[in-house]
Amino acid sequence: MQQQLEHKIAIITGGGSGIGRASCLAFAEAGAKVVVANRTLAKAEAVVEEIEANGGEALPVQVDVSQGEAVQRMIAETVAHFGGLDILFNNAGISPAGSVTEISEAEWDTCLDIDLKSIFLGAKYAIPKLKKRGGGTIINTAGTLGIRACRGKAAYAAAKAGAINLTRSIALDYARDHIRCNVICPGYIDTPLTADFPSAERDVFLDRFQPLPGLIQAEEVAALAVYLASDAAKMVTGQRFVIDGGQQAGIF
Ligand SMILES: NC(=O)c1ccc[n+]([C@@H]2O[C@H](COP(=O)([O-])OP(=O)(O)OC[C@H]3O[C@@H](n4cnc5c(N)ncnc54)[C@H](O)[C@@H]3O)[C@@H](O)[C@H]2O)c1
Repeated sequence: MQQQLEHKIAIITGGGSGIGRASCLAFAEAGAKVVVANRTLAKAEAVVEEIEANGGEALPVQVDVSQGEAVQRMIAETVAHFGGLDILFNNAGISPAGSVTEISEAEWDTCLDIDLKSIFLGAKYAIPKLKKRGGGTIINTAGTLGIRACRGKAAYAAAKAGAINLTRSIALDYARDHIRCNVICPGYIDTPLTADFPSAERDVFLDRFQPLPGLIQAEEVAALAVYLASDAAKMVTGQRFVIDGGQQAGIF
């Protein structure tokens, strides 16, 4: 039986940790050749070792997703190594805290650059390569705070809301080129990003706001990304996919 992502070439940013790492492993398991793109090269190399140990094919690439030249180089290295590009998963992100009076202009810029401009840059430089293959797919990671804000996360909430609507713009602009674009909105996921949150406070938060009990794992987000990247989702574009244990369903 053909694997879901057989013969596909995928770049996953933030591939060295959390949702990105789980997605790299899941994409490789589904048959894709995977570029593990991360700001820290050592983390990307460790994930490539895991993929190769499982019999998969992968390439580690160092990238700062907020820099246009670095993003262009990441895509050029992918094409040079694997011969093309079919899937771009713009997943790298940071999650800084602070209201508008608490954060500096520089902190605002950094968050918007890494969480939103990165999607513009990735799409801008990947789309010509996707077109050369007759189409392809882009997946972005936003977050439920891009749908409804919370206190003390001004830059993050703005960037993630922008990521959701940028996804729709890309989907509409390139649909006739057979390029799909969708966005995943995770709720509270058990990754290194959330590891600093004290577990007692976390449990109170989940009990109060997340209807389904339990901690959502990165692998569950990765499984959704595999589906969106696959031909099973060939008529799915411009949509946001929430994975949050029911938080967005209403007041709990
Ligand atoms: N964990 C959650 O609860 C949660 C919730 C909603 C949204 N998200 C989003 O999911 C995505 C992945 O988060 P995660 O929880 O796996 O976090 P993580 O911190 O475990 O992984 C993020 C990865 O992105 C990389 N990265 C950060 N800035 C980068 C840059 N400028 N260039 C290249 N790589 C960079 C980091 O090195 C790291 O490997 C992020 O966009 C995050 O905002 C996470």
